[in-house]
Amino acid sequence: MTRAPLRSLLVALGALLALPVGGAAQDDLACLACHNDVELLRAQASNGVDPIGLHVPPGPLRASGHGDMTCAECHTSFERFPHPGAAETVTCGTSSCHTNDPHPDWEGSVHARIQEETGIAAAECTACHGVHDVDALDDLRVEGGPAMLRMNASCISCHEAQNHPADPHADTASCAGCHAPHAMREIDSPDSWVAPLRQAETCAACHEAVTDSVRHDAHGAALQRQGRVTPLAWPPNPADSLAPTCTDCHGAHPMAGPPPDSVSRTASPEMDFQMEMVRRCAACHVAPAESYYLTYHGKATRLGSGVSASCAQCHGAHGVFPADSAASAIHEGRIVETCASCHEAARAAFVLYDSHPEPMNPDRNPWLFGSFVFMNAILLGTLGVFFLHTALWWLRIWLDMRSGRGHHHV
Ligand code: HEC
Ligand code: HEC
Ligand code: HEC
Ligand code: HEC
Ligand code: HEC
Ligand code: HEC
Ligand code: HEC
Ligand code: HEC
Ligand code: HEC
Ligand code: HEC
Repeated sequence: MTRAPLRSLLVALGALLALPVGGAAQDDLACLACHNDVELLRAQASNGVDPIGLHVPPGPLRASGHGDMTCAECHTSFERFPHPGAAETVTCGTSSCHTNDPHPDWEGSVHARIQEETGIAAAECTACHGVHDVDALDDLRVEGGPAMLRMNASCISCHEAQNHPADPHADTASCAGCHAPHAMREIDSPDSWVAPLRQAETCAACHEAVTDSVRHDAHGAALQRQGRVTPLAWPPNPADSLAPTCTDCHGAHPMAGPPPDSVSRTASPEMDFQMEMVRRCAACHVAPAESYYLTYHGKATRLGSGVSASCAQCHGAHGVFPADSAASAIHEGRIVETCASCHEAARAAFVLYDSHPEPMNPDRNPWLFGSFVFMNAILLGTLGVFFLHTALWWLRIWLDMRSGRGHHHV
């Protein structure tokens, strides 16, 4: 024990030489003499205290968002050792520093509620930010940067089910970009940043052009009208005529997006995406989907063709409007152009083709109805005569056998 004070003096001198001599660094030397030396802590720590856990190297603190703070600013009255009972570590939100921002936001969060109700430490400040290595805000805001990825890893440490490395947002966007950094709400709360009516605003932070078109198209307008505040249970009941928001088409965890242009259109990621999108449209638009599957496009898509037309390739994905609206991709003023994106030779006559045939409906197309009835009549007639003929033939054989005239061949 006698060597300890000497040792701490040496450590302090060493630290003095090794560290940049600045305000905070200078003030911390006394603390670091022990707290940056595991051997010293091991010698002095009272029973059962883990010296490794008390080891606080200054590097991470200096590189952190709190780089110019001293130990004593957060750990008050620790100057003497053994540390007096009155010594106290500040709490980020309730002591002086972050009382107004962001503590109130956090207090209203799902994390604070769970912590309050269950006593389980749901995310408190340090669970997300770390303790001595708190990243600076400027670093946290670099989308895809190391600080943001570390923050996402904190979320994932508790929310493993949302860890999807192949998600387009996994290495590019922060979880908090969609869920709010502090005011995270229950998923079915109208105040959640991902509530249906709020998604356009949330996603717009990064996808402005897309979002603008969705806000004003048939789906966006219907969503506003319906004022839906809770997520849609999927698959929806088509009878409810509920309008989709971004994640009703794209999903959320994981999210589906079109693969990059470099991926061949016949490769499976593109096909998976288009098939999934058709399934999503079809869940709400049942009759148009049924008729689509009667066409070449629908049959080819169902069989796995990556190049045939999906719903969104004719109607658009984000600027979806009724056919009689001039903004619709299938409006008479634009439909030739839409078909021509795949059928280069498309002209006005070509687009008369019925993309949603209803062969049983004489009002929609009497010619189609007529030929449907005619072809089916021929089919049924032919099969009917064939079956009748076969049945009579068997009857004759049976009668012949019964009367003992034996089997005879034709
Ligand atoms: C002489 C060595 C020494 C010095 C100097 C020292 N500490 Fe400690 N500190 C310890 C030891 C040993 C413990 C473990 C406490 C125990 O064993 O009861 C500790 C514990 C702590 C704890 C944890 C308390 C807890 O209850 O979890 C904090 C925080 C702390 N010290 C901060 C500081 C700060 C800040 C300074 C400088 C102002 C400082 N220490 C200076 C040796 C020291
Ligand atoms: C911005 C505020 C802040 C600064 C600056 C700071 N600490 Fe801490 N420190 C904390 C918080 C918060 C905790 C966690 C307390 C808890 O979990 O109960 C902590 C915990 C500790 C612990 C205990 C470790 C444990 O697991 O309980 C020690 C030891 C410690 N700090 C030492 C230091 C030393 C030495 C410095 C200066 C080099 C320093 N701290 C600077 C906020 C700070
Ligand atoms: C669920 C994780 C999480 C929790 C818990 C959390 N934060 Fe944050 N915090 C973040 C994220 C993410 C950012 C980055 C915000 C951004 O990019 O705008 C952030 C930013 C900050 C900022 C800088 C911007 C601002 O809003 O002022 C401060 C200060 C801050 N947090 C303090 C706290 C305090 C204090 C607590 C505890 C009351 C806390 N945080 C709890 C995730 C969290
Ligand atoms: C692009 C926006 C976006 C990003 C980025 C995002 N989420 Fe989500 N998250 C959502 C949406 C939307 C929901 C609503 C659930 C749904 O519609 O399936 C959700 C739901 C959740 C839920 C509730 C459980 C559930 O699946 O319904 C948790 C927990 C969650 N997210 C955590 C995270 C974590 C952790 C990250 C980062 C790894 C993250 N989220 C990134 C949009 C996002
Ligand atoms: C210390 C663990 C922990 C950390 C870290 C954490 N969470 Fe949570 N979170 C919870 C718990 C516990 C709940 C409540 C139970 C649940 O719904 O999973 C919750 C709830 C949520 C919810 C609401 C889920 C719902 O179904 O209503 C969202 C969204 C969420 N967290 C997002 C995040 C994001 C984003 C981060 C990182 C910025 C994060 N969490 C960090 C533990 C944590
Ligand atoms: C009705 C279904 C539907 C809705 C609602 C929808 N999307 Fe899309 N989204 C699609 C389809 C289909 C594609 C693929 C378009 C293509 O192949 O070019 C797509 C492509 C994208 C892309 C990548 C290509 C691009 O255009 O940048 C992003 C980003 C995107 N959507 C974001 C959003 C956001 C944000 C919202 C909500 C504001 C939203 N989507 C709402 C169906 C939808
Ligand atoms: C913090 C920024 C941010 C937010 C918020 C955000 N995204 Fe993204 N999103 C990105 C980035 C970055 C990419 C990757 C872009 C790329 O790979 O070209 C991406 C990719 C996508 C893709 C795949 C695009 C493709 O070409 O495959 C879709 C779909 C998408 N986001 C939808 C959404 C939706 C829906 C929301 C809101 C619920 C949302 N995003 C919120 C940043 C964000
Ligand atoms: C969650 C259900 C849902 C999903 C998914 C969905 N829609 Fe819609 N769609 C609606 C509702 C509701 C309307 C508005 C009807 C109204 O205004 O009365 C609508 C309107 C339309 C319209 C305008 C015609 C009209 O009747 O107003 C077209 C075209 C359309 N959707 C195509 C699509 C396509 C293509 C997809 C897939 C990329 C799709 N929808 C996905 C529910 C959905
Ligand atoms: C080859 C292009 C094409 C494809 C693929 C296609 N449609 Fe259409 N769709 C049209 C045209 C053209 C119309 C307008 C004429 C009509 O009613 O048939 C239309 C009409 C509609 C309407 C009614 C619009 C209104 O204003 O009343 C809806 C809803 C619709 N389609 C949904 C879908 C869905 C869902 C799919 C996929 C399952 C799909 N469409 C596939 C071209 C297409
Ligand atoms: C995304 C690309 C794409 C779009 C958009 C598209 N088609 Fe097609 N269509 C195809 C492909 C691929 C075939 C398969 C025939 C081929 O190889 O040329 C096809 C086949 C056809 C056929 C032949 C079907 C048969 O029964 O023999 C017609 C007619 C047709 N499309 C009409 C249209 C019309 C009209 C539009 C616009 C309303 C349209 N297509 C939009 C890709 C597309």
